[in-house]
Amino acid sequence: MGVEIKESAVTTAEREAMEQFVYDYLAASVESEDDGGRMRWYPWHSADYRFNHIKNVADLSETIAENEGADTDIVVVAALFHDVAKLEAPQDTHAEEGATVAREYLESHGDYPATFIDAVCQAVADHSFQGPLSEVSLESRCLMEADVLDKVGANGSALMLLRMGYESRTHMDAAQMIDRVLERGKDHLDRVESDTAETIGHKRLKRVKWFKEWLEAEVTDMEADELGEPSETETPAE
Ligand SMILES: [Fe+2]
Repeated sequence: MGVEIKESAVTTAEREAMEQFVYDYLAASVESEDDGGRMRWYPWHSADYRFNHIKNVADLSETIAENEGADTDIVVVAALFHDVAKLEAPQDTHAEEGATVAREYLESHGDYPATFIDAVCQAVADHSFQGPLSEVSLESRCLMEADVLDKVGANGSALMLLRMGYESRTHMDAAQMIDRVLERGKDHLDRVESDTAETIGHKRLKRVKWFKEWLEAEVTDMEADELGEPSETETPAE
């Protein structure tokens, strides 16, 4: 009986080897671009950002899988490979291509059962599905919920600020741009099904809301100061 458990368990060393493979794959995708990797500076397009996102999704999906009774090995390995092809394939095929990369890796490393490999690849292929999460397996759902959660919250806000720099926007636009993170976050959370993901999502959304409100208060003050006019919070001397 112990054999079965050993067959499906992914060790820490195996997980680290997968992470290294995925990082190297992403870095090579950017390096081999015709424009010499100029796009690596666009936040969503850098290997470092993508790898960080992948690790966040792996951790988040592990938490969701544990709480929701899913197979954590399938979910975590699928999370590690879910965006491996993101920087080399078009958006609408990156999930399928990621599943192909995952299959090649898993069939040539270790001794994973065919059922495990099939389930991992199914979740990787499913992750860009736009329909209701009730239509995919529990393991796919855990991955997809985690993928969405990483775009919501402080991390999603930081990414938006990086994008503003890339687009040469001034920080005067910050509140407006963070509002986009908030609105998109609400849409993302509408798709989430599990209680675990919903709880994490609401906590994160609250942080974005606070940040937006703080920006609105402070940036408005600064705008008024620059114009040499009293700000809303200051009472002009009579
Ligand atoms: Fe993703």
